[in-house]
Amino acid sequence: MKIFTTKNALQQHLQQLRQQGSSIGYVATMGALHDGHLSLLAQAKQQADVTICSIFVNPTQFNDPADLERYPRPIAADTAKLERAECDILFNPPVGEMYAGNENWHLDIGPLEHLLEGEFRPGHYQGVTQVVFKLFDIIQPNLAFFGQKDYQQVMVIRKMVQLLNLPVKVIMCPILRETDGLAMSSRNIHLSTADHEHALVLWQALNRAKSYFEEGMPIAQIEEKAAAMISHEPGTQLEYFTLADGDTLEHAEPHSTSIVALVAARVGSTRLIDNVIIR
Ligand code: PAJ
Repeated sequence: MKIFTTKNALQQHLQQLRQQGSSIGYVATMGALHDGHLSLLAQAKQQADVTICSIFVNPTQFNDPADLERYPRPIAADTAKLERAECDILFNPPVGEMYAGNENWHLDIGPLEHLLEGEFRPGHYQGVTQVVFKLFDIIQPNLAFFGQKDYQQVMVIRKMVQLLNLPVKVIMCPILRETDGLAMSSRNIHLSTADHEHALVLWQALNRAKSYFEEGMPIAQIEEKAAAMISHEPGTQLEYFTLADGDTLEHAEPHSTSIVALVAARVGSTRLIDNVIIR
C-alpha cells in the first residue's frame, strides 16, 4: 500500500494511474477502522481498478470540541488493517494540508441540513460537505462508497454531487453489525459492557418498527411505541426515532415510496445512530 500525507504527491500518483486507464474507487473515513469500513473497501475493490482510503478526522464537522478531542486515532492499527485488506492507497493528511486557515464554506443543501442529525448537530453537514468536496476534488474518484449507517450523510453527499455536478458515482453500502445486532461504529469503544447491552435496544426498536409497519400500524403509533421502548431502557437518552421518506428525509407519509426508520440516542456518554430501511 502506498501512503500519502500531501495532496501534491497523491495527485501526481493518481494522475499516472488515470493515464493508464485505471478507475478509482474511494472510501472516506475518519479512521478507527472496523469491519464496517472494511466492507466499503471490499465493495470498492470489486468495482474499481484502484482503491484509495482516506483517514482524516475532520475538525469542521464536530460541533463538540470534547467529541473531537476524544475521537480515537489508532493510525498504526488502521494502516495494518488496510494493508491486510489490500487497499492500494492510503491518504492520511494533517489538518494543515486540508485547511489553509479560517475558511468560509456554505452549500445550500435545503431541508436536509436541519432535519434529524442536522437538528442535533448544527453545522455538522456543512463540515461534512466541506471536507468531502475537498477530498473528491483532490482524488477525483470514479466511484465513492459510503455506508447506510450514516443514511442522512449519503443523502447529503448525493445532493452535493447533484448540485455541483461532480463526476462521481456515490454508492450506498449496507450496515455491518456485531453478532448481537449493534451497528459497528468507531464510537462503540467508548461503551462499557453495560452500555453495550443497553445500546441493543436501538436495533431491537428498529426491527420492532419494521414489523409494526408490515402489520399495518399507523406511522405515528409506531414512532410512539419505538420511542417508549428506547426511553424505558436504562442508561439511554433518546434524541429521535422517526420514520422518514427515504429520499427527502421529511416525515414519512403512508404513500411514501421509500421509508426508512432512523434513530439517535445517547447511551451512557456516547451518542449512537442507527437505521433500517422499512420500504
Ligand atoms: P466515519 O464515521 O469514519 O465513516 C466512514 C464511512 O464508513 C462512512 O461512509 C460510514 O457510513 C461508513 N460506516 C460506518 N460504520 C459502518 C457500518 N457499521 N457498516 C457500514 N459502513 C459503515 O462518515 C465519516 O467517517 C465522515 O463523516 C466522512 C465521510 C469521512 C467525512 O469526514
